[in-house]
Formats: sequence, C-alpha cells, structure tokens
Amino acid sequence: PEERGLPRSVSPALTFEVVAQQGRARTARMTLPHFTAETPMFMPVGTQGSVKGLTSKQLEDLNCHVILGNTYHLANRPGSKLVAELGGLHQFINWKRGMLTDSGGFQMVSLLHLADITEEGVTFASPVDGSRMLLTPEHSIAIQNELGADIIMALDDVVSSVSTSADRFREATHRTTRWIDRCIAAHARPQEQNLFGIVQGGLDPQLRDISIKDMSERSLPGYAIGGLAGGEDKESFCRVVLQCTQPGTGLPADKPRYVMGIGYPLDIVLCSAMGADMFDSVFPTRTARFGAALVGNGTLKLRNSIYAEDFRPLDEDCDCLTCQRYSRAYLHNLVTKGLPFASHLMSLHNIAHTQALTASIRQAIKEQRFPDFVHNFVRVRYPQGDI
Ligand code: GUN
Ligand code: ZN
Repeated sequence: PEERGLPRSVSPALTFEVVAQQGRARTARMTLPHFTAETPMFMPVGTQGSVKGLTSKQLEDLNCHVILGNTYHLANRPGSKLVAELGGLHQFINWKRGMLTDSGGFQMVSLLHLADITEEGVTFASPVDGSRMLLTPEHSIAIQNELGADIIMALDDVVSSVSTSADRFREATHRTTRWIDRCIAAHARPQEQNLFGIVQGGLDPQLRDISIKDMSERSLPGYAIGGLAGGEDKESFCRVVLQCTQPGTGLPADKPRYVMGIGYPLDIVLCSAMGADMFDSVFPTRTARFGAALVGNGTLKLRNSIYAEDFRPLDEDCDCLTCQRYSRAYLHNLVTKGLPFASHLMSLHNIAHTQALTASIRQAIKEQRFPDFVHNFVRVRYPQGDI
C-alpha cells in the first residue's frame, strides 16, 4: 500500500496513518469510531468496565485515548445483553473515547488456571457460581459485538506458562488460525468494530512466522502480538517482537501493531523502538495499589519510612492532581494505613506517568530525536547500567 510516503491503511472503522517514523519506530494517527488516537499509546485496563479507582473524567484528563475492557467480567455480570440494551459499554460507563475489549480466553487461562482448551473453545469454571462454561470464538465475538468497543480481539489459544511442550505450542498456533476464521465469520459489525487478529507461536521463530503469515493473509484492520509478558527473558521477548515488526516478513507496516500485556516503562520504550504502536497492562494501577509510584528514575515505594517527612511531590515534573496537591509524606501516611484513597491517588499518578511517557515518545519520533530519547531514558532510569 505505501508507495514512497509513510504507511497508511483504511478499513471501514479504522484509519491508520503514520505521521513520522525513525528506524522502525513510528508515530501514527489512528481514527476509530469514537476517537482519533495517537500512537504509540498505552491503554489502561478496566476489568469491570472502568479503570480501578479512577473516573472516566479523570482518564480523559489524563489524556487516555483508548481504555481496555475485559469481555468476560462484564459478560457474566451485568451481562453483555443488558449492556447492549443500555447502548453499549461506552454508554454504560460514560466513556466517549476509544475502547478495546479482549476476547476473554486469556483471562481465564492466566487468572483462573481452571481453563481447559479444546477445539471447540475454552471451558472454565464460572467465577460467579463455579458452573462449567464454554467460551467459543463465536460466543466471544457475540459478546464483544454487544459490548460495542471500537476494537475487539479474536479468541486465541494462549498456552499457559506452565506448559512448555513444543507440540502444545504448535497446536495453539494452528488453532489460533482456525479460530480467527471462526471469529471473522461470527463478526456481525465489521463496519463499526475492528476485529484484531493475535499472533501466537511462543518463542519459536518458525511458529511465529506461520502465525504472522496466517494473520496477515486475513487483511484485518490491525494485529496483536500475544503470548508475551509471561515471564520470558528480555532477549527472547525482543526477538519475537522484532520478528513480528520485521519489514517485509513481519506484520504489515500499514496496520497498527499491539503488544499485549506490556506496561513497564522500559518495555513500552523498547516496543516503540521496535515498531509497535499499542500497549496495555494492569501494571501502573496494580503497582499503585501496592504503594509504588512510577517516577523518572524508577519507582518510589511509599511504604518506606524515609518518606514520612518528605514534603516533596512524587515527581516534581508531573502535572497530575496527586503531584499538584499532595506530598510523599501524606501519601506515605495513606499507604501505610491501607486507605483506598491511597490507591486512587497513586493510580492517578502512575497512569499520568505512563501517558506522559508515551506522549514524549511520540514527540521524540516527530522531532526525529528518538535515539537520543532512548539513550536518555535508559541513562536516567538505570544509572548503574543495571538494565
Ligand atoms: N493479554 C496478554 N497477552 C495476551 C494474549 O496472548 N492473548 C490475549 N487474548 N490477551 C492477552
Ligand atoms: Zn503525578
């Protein structure tokens, strides 16, 4: 599709236009039915619709362009049919910008460890009443069609990190391809919702190649790189992402690429450098609930008594409400008492920090100084070279 200019693609419900690129890193405008987002972007995770502890107004003020919802948590209670009757997830949580829902299978496999995967779908014990439930590709897409997010994810066969057999990874790769065809066939709203395919294949380059080819052939509006962020070493992680973004043999350059489960600042910078565009993780909010604040040179563990009389903000350079109004000493007090307000203020800051990081990545690419940005990021965050 791209002649000599910058990569660009148009799908019925998504336009992706690279605005600037440097090496593999790129910054793009992604027009969705509800919002025009800028990439690279980080999408906070809202398990029950909204992001834990934050209001949709705050997420807007934090410059979040897209938030993530988990299909299964909502499908059970209150039920996707009810959400659909109320006008969809956007209406239900009063979020006017972009929304993405994951297909549900991964959450069952990774969170519940009770899932049993067969060709038909993912069987698991209902978190509500323990009864056996079967989530098929058709069922996942039907639920996501009812929820109405801008981007919906294919049901993929995610190999549990405890399983390491090569046969199981091969089976999962090919099954994910068979399931994408069932997802495409089941998708009832392709004019309004974008179905993304997910590349699997573990750490095996041959399986990844097969999956990249299988997905790319389906000409979907965007693609995700799955099966990572499961505790693999950094080198294997980078090797897989680089393979998926490799010009010519990787995923198409003119479509958005989403690395699932990525939220550590270093990983966001690395993946952006490797040509990825979208990330999501519970990390900023989860770590906030444990009392850790993300700052330029690492994390502050607010439980530590060294903060008891520290009247500085978490981060002098942060313009979030927490940093504008409260001191480390006050947050130390809240955190040590385990007050919900601590989680709220810390989550607000950690999301602000992550959004500021992606904004500065975009700016650096636009100004063609991304390599300097990366060097500086690493120098400030890992002064001992302990990366
Ligand atoms: N979230 C993090 N990793 C994955 C993955 O591999 N598949 C899905 N569906 N969701 C994820
Ligand atoms: Zn802040």
